[in-house]
Amino acid sequence: MRVLVIGSGGREHALVWKIRQSRLLDKLFCAPGNAGIAKDAECIDIQADDIPHLLEFVKKEKIDFTVVGPEAPLDKGIVDEFTKSGFKIFGPTKEAARLESSKVFAKELMQEFGVPTADFRVFDDADKAIDYIDTRTLPLVIKADGLAAGKGVSVINDKDKAKDTIHSLMKDKIFGHAGNRVVIEDCLVGEEASILVFTDSRQVVPLASSQDHKRVFDNDQGPNTGGMGAYSPTPVVTQTLFNEILEKIIFRIINGLVKKGIIYKGVLYAGIMITKDGPKVLEFNVRFGDPETQAILPRLETDLLEVMLAVANEKLIRYKALKWNNSSCVCVVIASGGYPGDYEKGKVIRGLDEVAKMKDIVIFHAGTKKQIVEGKSQIVSNGGRVLGVTGLGNNIQEAIERTYQAVDKIHFAGMHYRRDIGYKALKITAEQKGRQ
Ligand code: AMP
Ligand code: GLY
Repeated sequence: MRVLVIGSGGREHALVWKIRQSRLLDKLFCAPGNAGIAKDAECIDIQADDIPHLLEFVKKEKIDFTVVGPEAPLDKGIVDEFTKSGFKIFGPTKEAARLESSKVFAKELMQEFGVPTADFRVFDDADKAIDYIDTRTLPLVIKADGLAAGKGVSVINDKDKAKDTIHSLMKDKIFGHAGNRVVIEDCLVGEEASILVFTDSRQVVPLASSQDHKRVFDNDQGPNTGGMGAYSPTPVVTQTLFNEILEKIIFRIINGLVKKGIIYKGVLYAGIMITKDGPKVLEFNVRFGDPETQAILPRLETDLLEVMLAVANEKLIRYKALKWNNSSCVCVVIASGGYPGDYEKGKVIRGLDEVAKMKDIVIFHAGTKKQIVEGKSQIVSNGGRVLGVTGLGNNIQEAIERTYQAVDKIHFAGMHYRRDIGYKALKITAEQKGRQ
């Protein structure tokens, strides 16, 4: 089978790495990919949201199956276009992708179908939103309705700042039409967890739980990022809680969509806050998480390509559950100087070959590219998040230690990373033991 993966981040490298192990695979392509992906797949110079050229490519290369990584092409309707042209593709349609591309759509659907989430109001008028802020207690959460490259959400502790945020979203349009409407919602408190499931709207097959680390600095300080590291499984989600999340969140939203005539096929990601009143949805994503995927897939024993085909063919019913190994996995993201603000590029990365020899370690590349430096081919930084150093261990402690041993061997000018990825798992496990 000839397969194309679309995207260029750490998530796509993890997908490529896992699909490469499939017994069904003959040839693997990635568009556009990165320097690490280039070792596992043939990279094609077509951007992830350039649907006409991607379609041309799958026709020419007789691609049997396409896997979409990021949300932008899904929101642009890549699945609808490919399906119309008779090409098999993994991911939800444009309409189903509204679960991520419109926060208003997602919140209203949750309200209609009794999915627990923060109380909220929707505004399409900036002055009314500003008046509403005066009536609320802080902190408040303000969300642009549309896609804003992960930057459309602010948790705010100051009313003037809240009003400024409304102004920049709705009047200055810093995220364009994504800010035509906003959601203002209550701030939830608790531990966050990511629950991903495969679904074809008839069957739901969960992936292992994981926890992301969104803030840029240790101890959850500093601004939000795309994610600075993840680990799987997370003790935050006990088996009882997992079942509750499936019942009250995942099944209700998928069945709700079906009632509206929308068949969701693909991977569905629920960002959950475990509050004292139980699990509540922060957001839905219509794709794999990044960096959660890097921490989840090394634990998966089932053939990923086979499962994704079953989803696309609406045959997921053949799977009751996926097979996982018993290890824990940690992914530490190494970012460029300046990230999540303006960041530097083109820094030579050292230590990759040494880490490649380490057992139970894999490096998933994100913003990297190959470049000729002083006559030699080198790998240089080329994005905000550059590498996801990923390690397996018999338990989370071992995985953390192994991963940081590998991180210590990597160097490029200005790089930074969190030193506490996975530590929450240790703390939570100790607390759970203390209560027993
Ligand atoms: P979202 O894109 O909606 O997931 O928001 C990104 C991040 O903002 C989440 O992962 C949370 O860390 C935070 N966040 C979003 N909504 C809330 C909320 N209602 N209460 C507290 N934090 C939130
Ligand atoms: N790790 C957060 C996301 O993928 O949206």
